[in-house]
Amino acid sequence: MIYKRTHMCGELRADNIGENVVLNGWIQKRRNLGGLIFCDVRDKTGISQVIFNDEIPQELFDRADTLRSEYVVGIKGKVVERESKNPDMATGDVEIIAEDLVIYSASDTPPIYIKDDDNVDDNLRLKYRYLDLRKKKMQDNLAFRAKLTTLARNYFAECGFTEVETPMLIKSTPEGARDYLVPSRVNQGHFYALPQSPQTFKQLLMVGGTDRYFQVVKCFRDEDLRADRQPEFTQIDLEMSFVEVDDVIEIQEGFLKRVMKEMKGIEIETPFPRMTWEEAMTRYGSDKPDTRFGFELQDISHLVKNCDFKVFTDAVAAGGSVRAICVDGAAQEYTRKKIDKLTEAVKSYGAKGMVWMKVAEDGVSSSVNKFFTPEQLGEIADYLGAKAGDLVLIISDKNKVVFDSLGFLRRHIAGEMGLLDDNRFNFLWVVDFPLFEYDEKEDRWSAMHHPFTSPKAEHAELLKTDPHSCLANAYDIVLNGVELGGGSIRIHDREMQEDMFKALNMEQDEIIEKFGFLVEAFKYGAPPHGGLAYGLDRLVMLLTGEKSIREVIAFPKNQNAQCMVSEAPGVVDTAQLDELGIALKEQITE
Ligand code: AMO
Repeated sequence: MIYKRTHMCGELRADNIGENVVLNGWIQKRRNLGGLIFCDVRDKTGISQVIFNDEIPQELFDRADTLRSEYVVGIKGKVVERESKNPDMATGDVEIIAEDLVIYSASDTPPIYIKDDDNVDDNLRLKYRYLDLRKKKMQDNLAFRAKLTTLARNYFAECGFTEVETPMLIKSTPEGARDYLVPSRVNQGHFYALPQSPQTFKQLLMVGGTDRYFQVVKCFRDEDLRADRQPEFTQIDLEMSFVEVDDVIEIQEGFLKRVMKEMKGIEIETPFPRMTWEEAMTRYGSDKPDTRFGFELQDISHLVKNCDFKVFTDAVAAGGSVRAICVDGAAQEYTRKKIDKLTEAVKSYGAKGMVWMKVAEDGVSSSVNKFFTPEQLGEIADYLGAKAGDLVLIISDKNKVVFDSLGFLRRHIAGEMGLLDDNRFNFLWVVDFPLFEYDEKEDRWSAMHHPFTSPKAEHAELLKTDPHSCLANAYDIVLNGVELGGGSIRIHDREMQEDMFKALNMEQDEIIEKFGFLVEAFKYGAPPHGGLAYGLDRLVMLLTGEKSIREVIAFPKNQNAQCMVSEAPGVVDTAQLDELGIALKEQITE
């Protein structure tokens, strides 16, 4: 028998006093105080307190006494005013005097407590995700995500976008991460790739006359995991025909304005500020700057290029730079030990060391005192606008190392100093990215976005003569230091596409092998087009104030890209491999 419920467990209020109600849910906890049994019953909306007293038949009382945590029950009863009200509970003004109880299923002692602030090991949470999901916070996150997805569908439909599903079993995509491969049984020795994004297909949709395309879509990238990266994640992906950068941006600002209004009740100003990539790097050391706080980078190369400290002069002479951030009022707080930790941390960005200066009323102390006169140090401090009590951190190296290290330091220190206000939402467009970037590991130039991104109109000629100095019609939307999404206006001109491939040193065979179908399609009338994709998981993470996208994905992968619930990836038997024509180099049994 299943009781037809009248209310959700988190719904009951003083207004319901006197009503006969039926709740279905899980037992959060049960206490037997002699003649009274107290139970908290929970569903995704919250908890209600239920009391079994001595006025009910003994058999019912005894049954209630068998209840344990996570038993699934149906309870009939009457809402009464609570004697000792609990202001911390939404339903804390009332309780239910039970009149009947059905136990739908029993539960073993659960391996994790169903409590929002339970501090259990992440892998245990992921293994028992279905228990973890019973937490109100997790259910709220899923509901938030679903509401945002619906809002996106409605908004883009209103703007004339057609939702189209693009294929999952495809050929390699141009996003630049490693592909997940799927072997083909029918075409032995051949593999599909799971899409890193629907990039090529959405462009084909534009050639196909779809005009405006939209999709909430799973993407797969075999890359190292971080708090804001999962091997499978979701994009809100879109593409538009006959548009320029401003047209794409305007549609997005309308979307994000609505998201903030309806999901957070916050009116945000549009248009959002725009910053060139160059400015973002030089001021913040990052192409996704967090603009909620200062500590901007300052170049002091010209002040130190002839000083006695070889580390600085060598860096400048080799074409690098010496740059600093000034952290207001942090001189005392940052002890030698804390500074040593920061020095250690920047090593992972390639920095070989870090110089510090502390400004006091009576002068400047520093880790490089012996190479500088007090006047020289004072001059640097003055140039940086550092005042008594401030901490200055300096990195000298190749520009990339300097930017990455200081970019990390400013954000890390702001976090440590409690300056990252979760209630401020600083949206920012970063525009004018370089079209190419140099990949040191592979010693070659690659497309910074992907090879279909167009150069800025004024750089179209440069693509033939000095391609690597071209800027791109590419844009990223950044929120509080996180890259929420990115996109570009694409190349739709065949000659320009060929110039692009040439600049990437791609041979004709490679082009045809990788992107032949797209190049072929562009022969038959491609409209000018462009688009963008948001990371849905990241958007939901930021708006719910979570620190990791795992908190907003129902069944995320762990640090080793494993699904802890289903234990994927798994070993397959030889028969299955034989069918696919695959032999393993080494036999694996576990
Ligand atoms: P891009 O590669 O910038 O662009 O991806 C778009 C957005 O997707 C999110 N994202 C991720 N989220 C979680 N885990 C990951 N591993 C991950 N990788 C990316 C980010 C990112 O901004 N096809 C282009 C878009 C376009 O040009 O229209 C693309 O995929 O939030």
